Amino acid sequence: MIIDPKDQPRRDVYKLMIGSILPRPIAFVSTISTDGTLNLAPFSFFTGVTSQPPTICFSPARRPADGTQKDTLNNIVATGEFVVNVVTEAIARQMNEAATDFPPEIDEFEMTGLTPIPSQIVAPPRVKESPINMECKLHQVIEIGPEGPGGGALVIGEIVLFHVADELLRKGRIDTGALKPVGRLAGTEYTTLGRRFSMERKKYQP
Ligand SMILES: Cc1cc2nc3c(=O)[nH]c(=O)nc-3n(C[C@H](O)[C@H](O)[C@H](O)COP(=O)(O)O)c2cc1C
Repeated sequence: MIIDPKDQPRRDVYKLMIGSILPRPIAFVSTISTDGTLNLAPFSFFTGVTSQPPTICFSPARRPADGTQKDTLNNIVATGEFVVNVVTEAIARQMNEAATDFPPEIDEFEMTGLTPIPSQIVAPPRVKESPINMECKLHQVIEIGPEGPGGGALVIGEIVLFHVADELLRKGRIDTGALKPVGRLAGTEYTTLGRRFSMERKKYQP
C-alpha cells in the first residue's frame, strides 16, 4: 500500500509514524520555569545527534487540542537548560504519570512522587530514581510545521555533564542489561529489552 501523508488526517499520519519508528527511547526531561516550578515530561521522539560535542535532540509537539506549546519547551526556551533522565523499568509508572497534561503551575516531581536532586551545572534538578541523567544546555530550537496541532519543535541540546550510577559502568560501557531501559511502541504499549544479539562489522578490503 502506498500512503501519501498529504491525503491523510494528521492523527493517521501520527499513527503511521509511531507504529513504524520503534522501539523508541524515552527522554524523561526535567525543566524549571522562570518562577521556579519544576516540570517533568517524557518524549520518545528522541535520539542522539553527535558525540563531539555530545548532543541530543527531542521533539515536543504542540498540544493536539489547542495547538499550544508544551511546558517543557516553554521552560527550555526561557531558561536554556534541561536534564534528560533515562527511563528504566523501575520508574516506568511514574514516567507515564508525568505525561498527564498538568497545568504549568503544578510541580510534576510532586505529582509523580519522584525525587528532585540538584544538578551541578544546570538549574533544573535530576530525577534521583533514574540511574543516568544528562545535564543539557540548549543548542537550538527549530520550529517545524504549523503554529497549531501537528506542528512542533526540534530541541537540540548539548550534554554538559553525565551522571551514571557506578554499578552500571563496566570498563567505560553502560551495562544495558543492568540498566533495564524501557522503550515506547505505538499507543500505550512499551517494551523492555528482549533477545539481544551481536554482529561483527566487516572492514572493507579492496
Ligand atoms: C512514553 C511517552 C512518550 C511521549 N513522547 C512525546 C513526544 O515525543 N513528543 C511530544 O510532544 N509529547 C510526547 N509525549 C506526551 C508528553 O509527555 C505530554 O504531552 C506531557 O504532558 C508534556 O508535558 P509538559 O506540558 O509538562 O511539557 C509522550 C508521552 C509518553 C507517555
